Amino acid sequence: MAPDLRTRLGSAELPNPILTASGCASSGRELAQFIDVSKIGAIVTKSVMLAPRAGRPTPRMAETSSGMLNSIGLQGPGIDAFLQRDLPWLLSHGARVVVSIAGQTVREYGALASRLSDTAGVSAVEINLSCPNAEDAGRMFALDPVTAGSVVAAVRGSLRYDIPVFAKLSPDVTDIMAVAGACVAAGADGLSLINVLAGMVIDPARLRPALAGAYGGLSGPAIRPVAVRCVWQVREAFPDVPIIGTGGVRTGRDALERLLAGASLVGVGTAIVHDPSACSRVARELEEELGALGADRVADVIGQAHGAGRRAARGLVDGPRRA
Ligand SMILES: Cc1cc2nc3c(=O)[nH]c(=O)nc-3n(C[C@H](O)[C@H](O)[C@H](O)COP(=O)(O)O)c2cc1C
Repeated sequence: MAPDLRTRLGSAELPNPILTASGCASSGRELAQFIDVSKIGAIVTKSVMLAPRAGRPTPRMAETSSGMLNSIGLQGPGIDAFLQRDLPWLLSHGARVVVSIAGQTVREYGALASRLSDTAGVSAVEINLSCPNAEDAGRMFALDPVTAGSVVAAVRGSLRYDIPVFAKLSPDVTDIMAVAGACVAAGADGLSLINVLAGMVIDPARLRPALAGAYGGLSGPAIRPVAVRCVWQVREAFPDVPIIGTGGVRTGRDALERLLAGASLVGVGTAIVHDPSACSRVARELEEELGALGADRVADVIGQAHGAGRRAARGLVDGPRRA
C-alpha cells in the first residue's frame, strides 16, 4: 500500500503536505496549464497588499550559484482584485488557498485581515513579515520580535472567523527563536520558515550591482541548509507549533529532510521557476521516499530527526521494509 500523504491545515484536508511558496506561482492560475491545482496540498498566494503595486525597477532577477536573487518587490493587483478575481478562480478549481498578506504598517496588516474576513474558503493566512515597516525607517517587521508580534496580534484581532494564522519569518536575524516566540505569544497558530536571505550580485562588466535595487532575496538550493537549520531550531524550541518549511526544496528527498527537521508542511518556491510541475513531482517523489523508509503516513516522519524521535526514526529506517 502506498504511504498516506494526506494531512490537515485547520479544517481543510490536504491531499499531501506540498504547497507552493508565496510569490513563486503568483495567484496559482499560471500553474493550471502544467498541473491540476487541486492535487497539490495548497496554493500559497503571492503576498497581497491593500492597494495595487508595480513592484521594484528592473533588472530584478539575477542568477547565482545554486540559487537566484530577486527584488521583485510586492508587485500585485491589491486585495480588491484578488478577492474578486483570483480567489474565486482558485476555489472553483478545487484548490486549498493560503492567502499571504503584506503591509507597510501594522494597521495595514489588520485591514487586510479584516477584508479577508468578508470572504469564505480561505484555508489559512500567512503573514509575510519580510516587508519594510514604513513607521520604522523601512526596517523589516521580521527583524524585531516586538514589531513582529504586533503584526500578528493585529491580524488575529481583525480576523472575524477562526482560521489558522502562520507568521512567515526571515532568516536574516541573529535569534530566530525570539521572533518565533513573540509571534506564537501574539496568537500565531503556526510559523512559516523561511523567507529569502538578503544578498547582492555585482555585474563586473557594468561595474555595478546586477539588480536595479542593489540588494535582493536569495532563494533556491543555496539556502536549503539555512532553512533546515531554522526549522530544526524552532521545532526544538516550540515542538507543538506547526511549521511550513520552505527554502531550497527541489526534490522529494529535500521535502523529507524538511519533515524530519520538524516541518509539517513543505513549501516549494524557486524550483517552480525552472519546473512549473515541481510541486506535483516533489509530492510523488516524497511518496516514494516514505515508501522506501517503510513509513505509513507523513505524520510518522515529522520531527523524527530530533531527540527521542531520532531513536524512533532509527527503528523506522532499520525496521522491516514494505514488500
Ligand atoms: C520570485 C520570488 C517572489 C517571491 N515573493 C514572495 C512574496 O510575495 N511573499 C513571500 O512571503 N515570499 C516571497 N518569496 C519567498 C518564497 O516564498 C520563499 O520563502 C523563498 O523563495 C525560499 O524558498 P525557495 O528556495 O523554495 O524559493 C518570493 C521568492 C521568489 C523567488
